Amino acid sequence: MDMRRRSVLAAGAAGAAAVLTGGAKAMAATQTATAPAASSGDVPWANASLRDLASKIGFRIGTALDPADLTTPALSAIASGQFNVYTPENEMKWEVVEPTQGNFDWTGADNLVNYARAHKAKVRGHTLCWHNQLPGWLTTAVANGAYTKTQLLDLLQQHIFTEMGRYRGKIWQWDVCNEFLTDSNPSGVNQNDWWIVNAGAEVIPLAFKWARQADPDALLFYNDYNIGGEDGSNAKFNAAVALAESLQQNSHIDGIGIQGHLDTQYGWDAQRLRRDIEAFGNMGLKVAITEADVRTFIETTDAAQTPTNGLEELAQPFEYSELLKAALAVPACISFTVWGFGDSESWVPGFFKGEGYADIYDVNLNPKAAYYAMQSDLAFAAYGAPDRNS
Ligand code: XIL
Repeated sequence: MDMRRRSVLAAGAAGAAAVLTGGAKAMAATQTATAPAASSGDVPWANASLRDLASKIGFRIGTALDPADLTTPALSAIASGQFNVYTPENEMKWEVVEPTQGNFDWTGADNLVNYARAHKAKVRGHTLCWHNQLPGWLTTAVANGAYTKTQLLDLLQQHIFTEMGRYRGKIWQWDVCNEFLTDSNPSGVNQNDWWIVNAGAEVIPLAFKWARQADPDALLFYNDYNIGGEDGSNAKFNAAVALAESLQQNSHIDGIGIQGHLDTQYGWDAQRLRRDIEAFGNMGLKVAITEADVRTFIETTDAAQTPTNGLEELAQPFEYSELLKAALAVPACISFTVWGFGDSESWVPGFFKGEGYADIYDVNLNPKAAYYAMQSDLAFAAYGAPDRNS
């Protein structure tokens, strides 16, 4: 049997504590008020952080961050204590970094990159070529017919070189293109996408080619939603495979980002997700779960985001756990990122009417059942259950 695994578990709580590094200790310090302390007889990993458990198997656990939140001690303690890869929720999007043409604002992006280095974490760059959150100066000019397709492509190339060049060598994974596929069956590249309409179909292979030139060491991802077991037909997954194959032939791609925005009201197939991740892996691609959250309907009259149906409190952590286990099962999958960790900071209530409770910490930053589900999944992934054979 695996002696490393056996010896850690045989060593009990004291031994396991000794194998945990800085992040776990920081987490224990920040969580004494909220999480039950490991009592004698508790499992050895009861106070281990997500990032330290993931590190044991060379996996990374991430979160989206608003860099402005990092000055709030309670938020920073969780960000640095629990996670070791960070995605700027908005601060690397074009509208933020170049609000007026030629005038750049790198404040938030720089803060996040520096924070990651200070806390021994990596960064997922997000995102270079997407139809949303483009600067107004660009969309207005394009609407007025100010640019030919070639001129628009030149602007995109410049954007990719400027932004990726600034952070060259500091970004682990870049979401180069985001959300280009249709939600229909069959699915394919959306011919009505802003970029496809205004710059032409070659925009996707060109963006990846330029990204490769701008930072040859970054892993280049295509990122989308509903490509991992969410749509019953798997049509959008098939379209992602076709897109990735064409990029492998005509340009470059390293990985697929499966966003993982789930909603307990819809069906979802965790076995299918695992097979989809395996299929991408078999193509030689890396996979990352990039924006996981699981929303439910909530009582909008209280600030606590209480689910309207008590069963949602079981469905929500279950879906997090199934997402994470599918990711852990396949070696091609290298990271799992939640789209923010606290319900108060979540994008969900603002974007999905009547929904919330989507994150793994509650509105007061107490860990929810979903947090503990992820912690135990990672612990079993790292150490296995105690072996009864001996
Ligand atoms: C969202 C952010 O969370 C919001 O703060 C912002 O207002 C809109 O964008 N898919 C993506 C993310 O790739 O960039 C989106 O993030 C959520 C959906």
